[in-house]
Amino acid sequence: MSQSWLILSGKGGVGKTMLTASLGIALAKRGLKCCCVDADLGLRDLDLLLGMENNVVFDMLDVARKDCKLKYALLQHHRFEDLSLLPASQSGSSKDLDDETFRKIVGKLKKRAGYVLTDAPAGVERGLKNLLPGSDYSILVTTPDDVSIRNAERVLALLDEKHRPRPMLVVNRVVTDLVLKGDMYSPQTVANVLDVPLLGYIPEDRAVVAALSRHESFMDLDNPASQAVDRICRRFLGEYVPLPEMTRKRRWFFKK
Ligand SMILES: Nc1ncnc2c1ncn2[C@@H]1O[C@H](COP(=O)(O)OP(=O)(O)OP(=O)(O)O)[C@@H](O)[C@H]1O
Ligand SMILES: [Mg+2]
Repeated sequence: MSQSWLILSGKGGVGKTMLTASLGIALAKRGLKCCCVDADLGLRDLDLLLGMENNVVFDMLDVARKDCKLKYALLQHHRFEDLSLLPASQSGSSKDLDDETFRKIVGKLKKRAGYVLTDAPAGVERGLKNLLPGSDYSILVTTPDDVSIRNAERVLALLDEKHRPRPMLVVNRVVTDLVLKGDMYSPQTVANVLDVPLLGYIPEDRAVVAALSRHESFMDLDNPASQAVDRICRRFLGEYVPLPEMTRKRRWFFKK
């Protein structure tokens, strides 16, 4: 039975697109068919994170307006045959995609892929509201700071109001040293405050930014962020994977 997941956040810039792309790659690496959907209309960027920006011809709005068939807008990843992308448009806005059209598009994608991951626009405006009826479940992304947490609470309130299931939580850009010093909330504390189950956390990792500037995915490397996404993917698939213990980076002192 195929599932459609919405990757959402209250505050912008917390890592939704990064998570959508990397989780999509993690699923495809396991041979699971996954379709990533960029629903941040007018602000297309998921294609960049998947290294597919040169392949985009048609997009979500072309499909919504019936200017092209879904199969022509859907792009297969050049390396992972199980991964596809429905890109967003560069122009247009959320008002160009109503909830019924999105629901129909997702319904068709679910016939092609076991997992449909939709990268939502930040906030609780129409852009997100129109995506809720077409999505079965959601993952809420937040960073461990008060602003992001407060905005995440607004998303939770909207999900409750629309009678949607509670999301799972991913806390991104966690800095272990700061958590251990008590200068940053731990991922579990954020989950407790928001009262949602913790799917996992991703550390702050310069490899994420470096890979993006090379138009590559950090999932190709063995680094703390890719390991964290891999654990998230395993939990997403129902495996029990304990959270790694947070320990200070070991410093070596060489005595003469
Ligand atoms: N764990 C991380 N470590 C370091 N940098 C990160 C991490 N996660 C995300 N970033 C960087 O943060 C920036 C924002 O990430 P991203 O675009 O995924 O956020 P977003 O929630 O999709 O933003 P928007 O709301 O604007 O769509 C990017 O430059 C990304 O490379
Ligand atoms: Mg984004």
